[in-house]
Amino acid sequence: MTQAPNAATVDITTSEYRQFQKLIFDIAGISLSDAKKLLLVGRLSKRVRKLEYSTFTEYFKFVTDPAHQAELQVMVDLLTTNETYFFREPKHFDFLRQRAGQARGSGFRVWSAASSSGEEAYSMAMVLADVLGGASWEVVGTDISTRVLAKAQGGHYPLDRIDGIPNPLLKKYCLKGLNEYAGTLLITRELRERVRFLHSNLMSPRKDLGLFDLIFLRNVMIYFDNDTKRKVVANLLPYLKSDGHFIVGHSESLNGLTADLQPVLPTIYRRSEARP
Ligand SMILES: C[S@@+](CC[C@H](N)C(=O)[O-])C[C@H]1O[C@@H](n2cnc3c(N)ncnc32)[C@H](O)[C@@H]1O
Repeated sequence: MTQAPNAATVDITTSEYRQFQKLIFDIAGISLSDAKKLLLVGRLSKRVRKLEYSTFTEYFKFVTDPAHQAELQVMVDLLTTNETYFFREPKHFDFLRQRAGQARGSGFRVWSAASSSGEEAYSMAMVLADVLGGASWEVVGTDISTRVLAKAQGGHYPLDRIDGIPNPLLKKYCLKGLNEYAGTLLITRELRERVRFLHSNLMSPRKDLGLFDLIFLRNVMIYFDNDTKRKVVANLLPYLKSDGHFIVGHSESLNGLTADLQPVLPTIYRRSEARP
């Protein structure tokens, strides 16, 4: 069977690929290895064709033209990998529950620092609402992709994404869609109001985030080289309270990246010295 022309990919030369590798690295710190060439072609070809270009050189000129700044965000949205799910790596949420329990009533704040479409931030919020109820607490979710942030803000997900949510929390904080919303789930308004989603780049985080008891930086450092990992951790540390904890994904580690965090459990770190 022949492919429809609009589904066909656009060819890329090695020098064109190098230009895009550098561009996404400069913007987001993401290192695309040479092995990711087909992935980039697969993700950008439709966009290139939609704009009626036939080469990546033309698209590169367009996306880097200051007159078309919004296109850079479209490209970032297409090139970021946003895979996530509720209660991913459940031990981290057990740890959050324990910390929140110890900190009752003291304005507990947590940051989902590469939140993707919000499942991580809402999982945190379900735990905090369960432990701290109406006391003062807040969850902030940030990401470089505006497309996933819009989804996060809506708090509306397909029902087949809910597997990890513990039953009591599912009952308390999720509404099952009816009629035209059948097959979907909506995070309750009460919970959505406790979670803020903001656009922020880990390479230069926005300044208005405040201090956090816990920072989740999970499943994003896998896209960074060692130098970038070091920079990103240094960029986030000023937002961590003196007794705060920093959590990374199960396949990630901060070993050798900073002297300011000490491991307390696998993938969970604590500040090693008090803030000045
Ligand atoms: C695989 S998802 C991880 C989501 C969630 N933390 C989890 O563990 O399930 C990685 C997210 O990191 C975001 N990301 C990549 N580079 C970033 C950067 N420089 N600044 C902020 N977010 C970034 C992507 O847009 C994507 O949504």
